[in-house]
Amino acid sequence: MNYGLLKGKRGIIFGALNEQSIAWKVAVKAVEEGATITLSNTAIAIRMGQVNELAKQLNCEVIAADATSYEDLEEVFKRSQEVLGGKIDFVLHSIGMSPNVRKGRAYDDLDYNMLNKTLDISAISFHKMLQAAKKLDTLAEYGSVVALTYMAAQRTVFGYNDMADAKSLLESIARSFGYVYGRERKVRINTISQSPTMTTAGSGVKGIDKLFDYAERLSPLGNASAEECANYCVVMFSDLTRKVTMQNLYHDGGFSSMGMSLDAMATYEKGLED
Ligand SMILES: NC(=O)c1ccc[n+]([C@@H]2O[C@H](COP(=O)([O-])OP(=O)(O)OC[C@H]3O[C@@H](n4cnc5c(N)ncnc54)[C@H](O)[C@@H]3O)[C@@H](O)[C@H]2O)c1
Repeated sequence: MNYGLLKGKRGIIFGALNEQSIAWKVAVKAVEEGATITLSNTAIAIRMGQVNELAKQLNCEVIAADATSYEDLEEVFKRSQEVLGGKIDFVLHSIGMSPNVRKGRAYDDLDYNMLNKTLDISAISFHKMLQAAKKLDTLAEYGSVVALTYMAAQRTVFGYNDMADAKSLLESIARSFGYVYGRERKVRINTISQSPTMTTAGSGVKGIDKLFDYAERLSPLGNASAEECANYCVVMFSDLTRKVTMQNLYHDGGFSSMGMSLDAMATYEKGLED
């Protein structure tokens, strides 16, 4: 169903790698809802992934940028304004990577150079994005910036490793910058805390299949899919949420508020009998 929620709006979507990517679904949905967009990812992701196919499908430009490079991000904003013909109304930060997770380093055996990379790519890039956008005065009044996060920022999840620290920082940046950008330019900044989702980044998390299943069973509404996350992002980009800012918004079928469910209780009792 198409509601025209983003009719006439201009946006930038960071982080679409392949069809599984949450950013991919957001890009498709945003265009369906009437937006014109640009896409951005690293040069290597553009070469190795399928983002060019998406660009063809959506008739939009891809701008290469390493999100840890302030200059690259400035370029994305400048070029996007040129291509789209005006100030930007929404931005999606859908970027995450931990070299420690990739190399299987345990949380009590972190490599600190890698930790710096995790934080830079997955969290500080958000600050760089916002700072570049503000200095260039690229975002329209009541523009909306959303970053994707995960509940391991609040509660310890086995296997999530240093990405939990990165997500805590990401959410904090959304609040701190949300205050400054809201006060001075009426730009809103939020994070959406998404259910476990089977994507390239998701599959890097140790035991993701079990985590996915556990969350699915414990959430009264079940896990939120990438498509459903895209719907929520569109609402957050739209004018229907003009006074929502500095929030961490759970999009997880109720998981984050659950303690014990009927099913889990029965499974637990059965386990004890065994
Ligand atoms: N998959 C999940 O279970 C899940 C749950 C909650 C939140 N998230 C978050 O959603 C976001 C998107 O992840 P996804 O699950 O769609 O996986 P994905 O692998 O499709 O997307 C991650 C993206 O980050 C990009 N990226 C990595 N390093 C970069 C850099 N230096 N500069 C620019 N881009 C870079 C990758 O190229 C890729 O496009 C991430 O922030 C992730 O942490 C994912």
